[in-house]
Amino acid sequence: MPTHIAILGAGIFVRTQYIPRLREIGDCVIIKAIWSRSEESAKAAVELARDFSPEVECKWGDSGIDDIIQDTSIQGVAIVLAGEAQVDMSLKMLKAGKHVIQEKPASGSTDEAEKALLGYKALCNSIAQQPIWAVAENYRFEPAFVESRKLMNDIGDMMHIQVIVEGSMNSSNPYFSSSWRRNFTGGFILDMGVHFIAGLRMIAGCEISTVSAIAHYVDKTLPPPDNLCSLFQLENGCAGVFVMAVSSASPKILWRIDGSKGTLQIERGNESSRHGYVVLFNKADGHSQRTFYPFSGVNEELKCFIHDIAQASSKEGATCEAEPRSSYIEGARDVAVLEAMLKSSEKQGAQVHVKKF
Ligand SMILES: *[C@@H]1O[C@H](CO)[C@@H](O)[C@H](O)[C@H]1NC(C)=O
Ligand SMILES: *[C@@H]1O[C@H](CO)[C@@H](O)[C@H](O)[C@H]1NC(C)=O
Ligand SMILES: *[C@@H]1O[C@H](CO)[C@@H](O)[C@H](O)[C@H]1NC(C)=O
Repeated sequence: MPTHIAILGAGIFVRTQYIPRLREIGDCVIIKAIWSRSEESAKAAVELARDFSPEVECKWGDSGIDDIIQDTSIQGVAIVLAGEAQVDMSLKMLKAGKHVIQEKPASGSTDEAEKALLGYKALCNSIAQQPIWAVAENYRFEPAFVESRKLMNDIGDMMHIQVIVEGSMNSSNPYFSSSWRRNFTGGFILDMGVHFIAGLRMIAGCEISTVSAIAHYVDKTLPPPDNLCSLFQLENGCAGVFVMAVSSASPKILWRIDGSKGTLQIERGNESSRHGYVVLFNKADGHSQRTFYPFSGVNEELKCFIHDIAQASSKEGATCEAEPRSSYIEGARDVAVLEAMLKSSEKQGAQVHVKKF
């Protein structure tokens, strides 16, 4: 039996990622409805999904939300809305007993995430089956990071980590003019930054305990801040640097970990016209390996969400553990690191402890 879901949101990411990726797994998922605030944008997205979900319905406005809540055939909901609206909508859908996958960032602040988690716990205690709450950040599902995590076992003692993000968020980027990102504390640093922190936390396999950072605002066509330079320390004592420019003339994105027995580097790149990551592992004994992994994080995390819903439905009444890599709490931990960096910058780089979740 295919899983029935609804999509809330009909923006660029829904049209260019959610719908095509869901089509690829069209044998196990059916889109029952697509909702947007306006009828017009919901309709445009619905037309894109009709080939593999012929009965998809167009929903808009408050009454559209009520219809989705009341439709008991809809098991899961993907929430792809403006950052500040997502947590409230997620909780609304979870209360209605729907499984939820929400786009990143998990929240706009750790205060919001804490309140949200309390609300989620309370509702889990009050209903028979705990609905899944996943955050779609995709990096924890990228094969490049999954494989790099394994290579970390051979790195010896971790010496230091560098994360360099020189982004390409200029006026040629389709998300550049997105209005909610211009009214979001932390701007693109928080919105995009959670991905790079997710990658860092995944390969480090250890939480970041303290940070010190200076933010800077240079490109006035972007929301502030657009640059961040940070020193961080992991719970295991290892330190590293995280440098991020939202828009750079020469984009480059890499994570590099030096260990006593080798150096691991993951860098965004392309091969045979496919985009993805080049993973380099140079060992102290002279052995080196290079592997290219095309992007597939969005496919993997959506597959996982649909699979988890199917598992939960087959075990009616029993608690079902959803994939921990996509749990809300992991998303909240990424927000906490960036929030601590931004707070440190407000205090001229003073050391700040990262809030624990
Ligand atoms: C935006 O950045 C990309 C990648 O660096 C570049 O190719 C493009 O020319 C830039 N566009 C503008 C308007 O600066
Ligand atoms: C900006 O964000 C605040 C807080 O999330 C919200 O209340 C307000 O409506 C937003 N303003 C605009 C113009 O989107
Ligand atoms: C692909 O990667 C090469 C370097 O390996 C780079 O010169 C080229 O600009 C990249 N192409 C695209 C489309 O990003």
